[in-house]
Amino acid sequence: MEKLKERIIKLKEERDAVILAHNYQLAEVQDIADFVGDSLGLSRKAAKTQAKVIVFCGVLFMAETAAIICPDKMVLTPEPAAGCPMADMITAEALRKKKKRDPGLFVVCYINSGAEVKAESDICCTSANAVKIVQSLNDVNHILFVPDQYLGHYVGKQTGKELILWPGYCPAHVRILPQDILRLKKQYPASRTIVHPECRPEVIELADEVQSTGGTCRSVRQSQTEDFIIGTEIGIIHRLRRENPEKRFLPASEQAICPNMKLITLEKVLWSLEKMQYPVKVPEETARKAGGALDKMLTTV
Ligand code: 13P
Ligand code: SF4
Repeated sequence: MEKLKERIIKLKEERDAVILAHNYQLAEVQDIADFVGDSLGLSRKAAKTQAKVIVFCGVLFMAETAAIICPDKMVLTPEPAAGCPMADMITAEALRKKKKRDPGLFVVCYINSGAEVKAESDICCTSANAVKIVQSLNDVNHILFVPDQYLGHYVGKQTGKELILWPGYCPAHVRILPQDILRLKKQYPASRTIVHPECRPEVIELADEVQSTGGTCRSVRQSQTEDFIIGTEIGIIHRLRRENPEKRFLPASEQAICPNMKLITLEKVLWSLEKMQYPVKVPEETARKAGGALDKMLTTV
C-alpha cells in the first residue's frame, strides 16, 4: 500500500495533476486525495485549480461536471463504470417530453444527473445549496425539480414552494429507515442526528439537522456534542472519525452503501495517472448548455 501511495504521489507531480475525492470514497482514496468534499465543494475546487489534470474520484456525473466547468483541463475518471443510479432515473429525452407536455416549466436540476439532462434545465443545484437556489427564484412558480423526489420534497417544505417532483431516488439513502434512527436515538439519548436530504421524508422528520455531506462534516466540527447518528452513505464515517477522533459516529444504517462510489481503488488511481485514463469528455453543444445551468448555480449562491 505504501509503495502504491508513493508512486501515485510521484506521478501526480510529474503529470501536474490534482486528485479530488468525494466524501463517500474508500478510506485509502480519501487519504491520498488533495481535496475531499461534497459535490459543491468539488465543483468549486475543480473551477479554481491551477493543475493541468484532474483525477476525479467520485461517480461519473461529478467528473462530467468538472469537465464542463474546466474545458481547458484534462479530467480523468479512474473508473468510467462508476455511475449514479439516481442520475440514470431521468433521461434528456424524457425531460424534453415532460417540458413539451407542460410548457412554461422551470427546471431545477440536482447535480446528480447526466450532462444532457443538465443541458435541458434552467439551473442546477447541489444538496448544499438546493434550498437557497429555489428560494432565489422569487417570481418563478411553475418549477419541476429533477431527478430526486426526496430532495425536492425537502426543498419544497423549506421554501414553501409547490414543486413538481420527478420520481427519482437514491437507492443507498432509501435504505435508511425511521426505525433505524429511532433505535439509535433510544440507545444514545444525548446524540445528535444529522441526515442527508436524499433520505426519505419520514427519516428527515426525525433528524436534528439536514445537511449535505460537506455540511455534515462542518456541523460535526463545530458542535460540542459527542455522539452523532449519521444518516448518509457510510463512506463519510472515515472522514468524520479522522477529523474528530474524540467523537463517536453511529451510521444510521450499515446498508446505506453506494457500490459505485467503491469502484475506485488506489490501483485504479495509479493506472489513471500512468495511462492518462479515462478522459471524460462532454460534447461541445451539451457542455455549453449544461455549463449555463451550472454557471447560474455557481453565481447565485
Ligand atoms: P453531497 O453533494 O452532499 O456530497 O451528495 C452527493 C451524493 O451523491 C449524495 O448521495
Ligand atoms: Fe448516486 Fe446515491 Fe450513490 Fe449518491 S449515494 S452517487 S445519489 S447512488
